[in-house]
Amino acid sequence: MDFWAEQAERLHWDVRWSEVLDWSGAPYAKWFTGGRLNAAHNCVDRHVEAGFGDQVAIHWVGEPGDSRDITYAQLRDEVCRAANALASLGVRAGDRVAIQLPMIPEAIVAMLACARLGAPHSVVFGGFSPSALRSRVEDAEAKVVITADGQFRRGQAVPMKANVDEALAGSAVEKVVVVRRTGEDVPMGERDVWWHELVDGQSTEHFAEAFDSEHPLFILYTSGTTGKPKGILHTTGGYLTQVAYTHQVVFDHRPGEDVYWCTADIGWITGHSYIVYGPLANRATQVVYEGTPNTPHEGRHWEIVQKYGVSIYYTAPTLIRTFMKWGEDIPARYDLSSLRVLGSVGEPINPEAWRWYREHIGAGTAPIVDTWWQTETGAIMIAPPPGSPEFKPGSAQTPVPGISAMVVDDAGKEVAPGESGYLVLDQPWPSMLRGVWGDDARFRETYWSRFTGAYFAGDGARYDADGDIWLLGRVDDVMNVSGHRISTAEVESALVSHPAVAEAAVVGAADPTTGQGIVAFVIPRDAAEVSVQELRDHVAREIGPIAKPRQIMVVPELPKTRSGKIMRRLLRDVAENREIGDVTTLADSGVMAQIAGQKSAT
Ligand code: WTA
Repeated sequence: MDFWAEQAERLHWDVRWSEVLDWSGAPYAKWFTGGRLNAAHNCVDRHVEAGFGDQVAIHWVGEPGDSRDITYAQLRDEVCRAANALASLGVRAGDRVAIQLPMIPEAIVAMLACARLGAPHSVVFGGFSPSALRSRVEDAEAKVVITADGQFRRGQAVPMKANVDEALAGSAVEKVVVVRRTGEDVPMGERDVWWHELVDGQSTEHFAEAFDSEHPLFILYTSGTTGKPKGILHTTGGYLTQVAYTHQVVFDHRPGEDVYWCTADIGWITGHSYIVYGPLANRATQVVYEGTPNTPHEGRHWEIVQKYGVSIYYTAPTLIRTFMKWGEDIPARYDLSSLRVLGSVGEPINPEAWRWYREHIGAGTAPIVDTWWQTETGAIMIAPPPGSPEFKPGSAQTPVPGISAMVVDDAGKEVAPGESGYLVLDQPWPSMLRGVWGDDARFRETYWSRFTGAYFAGDGARYDADGDIWLLGRVDDVMNVSGHRISTAEVESALVSHPAVAEAAVVGAADPTTGQGIVAFVIPRDAAEVSVQELRDHVAREIGPIAKPRQIMVVPELPKTRSGKIMRRLLRDVAENREIGDVTTLADSGVMAQIAGQKSAT
């Protein structure tokens, strides 16, 4: 416990904690009990007070080519103004604020303003549909929603406020704050207020109240094995301690020297922990880029690395594979010599992508830190130390100091090297989730019921002969598409909500670029005409474009066991063009032949 007490010293505490960990209410942990702090003060004000106000916090790059450099002093002023503005709308400690914004500085400012007020934010990815936004806003009972008129995507302005209006029709949300980004006309209703009209005139003075270490910092929704997303709850002291600690040790981050860039979106946990809270707590200078990597050209990221002298670059395997497809001659046109540490997150990185990343982006020498963690873990859990004597392409290697992880078999017994098992976290950690918002039973059932006294991560893993950990992907019905978690049940329920569909089954099939691709099997309603394209669009409308199936097969039946459970394993065989496995437990063993026949017909 001395270890984590030492890490917590990285932060400014208004009141020091009395106990490092109280695990008596397991599986609900309390870290740094009695301690009080303000997360926004830790990320911004204290750096200004320490004399670093002129250091650039954010080199922001807009997709159309506009840019802004924001110093810590300017960020402090903006966050204070926004906190005053939200307070003027009646936002108080404990109130939830939903945020759906593009990757613009206001997104970070809004999150920090909420943190400053002790109002947990719930950030919803900009690509989520109105109905996905609506369910998240309703589940968290958000009082205020912050959004933008629109966002730039591949050079085009696409509406955002219109989505929010659709999502909030008839809802109890009191105010919608709208940032002007794309500039097109948006109808402003009675509860709507422009960000610039609300925020710009506010005072830059705002007192940052210290909150209890266990005060809720944010809720972030993630997909689980059922259709309904889970609101993962994170609190303040332990979370901030572990994100600051890992951001520093895993990336070997040096404040004032490094230029750091994490390419995630703030709508995901990686954006929360490694764009907002970790780097800012560590006084990083970072790049934040609004757009897609091929707008206006496929060298955009490397142009930005060269321009700002990025030294630490953190991205996802799916993007690395995309860069590989575009060709190595693209990064070769830029000076990437400033890069000294490369990171990977979101899915297992295949050795080929690992080697390409190191060779063509890291000059053949940069350490690659393959970081395993989850929305639920809050911060990096498994990663090779950057000074590691040996890197293994495709292995996240070892738990970071202070963290304990194990690979176990069905009975919870540690497996021997080479055997596959389940990854569990057998000791509490500071940034661990503090539950599923409003659903204690689901929290216990999902994470704590499978193995006694240990957290079940939902990932398969194995040890190699050196005891290093290799992650093998999800063992539940969660797919990983371009590093995004999407549950099969969520896509299935979107499909069956279409009038032409009687039944649907969805599997994740290996995909050379996105890791997994979504493949759906649908049984049409009697005599109904189904258009596969219409179904794909329907899923995009229901959830968001990221959930669009890569392929939809219209089939007469689905393979089910005698107890009525769909055998996805067999569907995966079809989707991945493999020979179909054991069908003996099927209620009707002829079904697979029908499906396979159907497939060759499409
Ligand atoms: C997967 C993203 C292998 C894993 C931070 C996990 C990984 C899920 C890695 C969490 C990695 C993430 N190697 N698999 N380095 N990083 N994963 O909640 O299946 O969006 O359970 O958090 O991504 O996804 P989430």
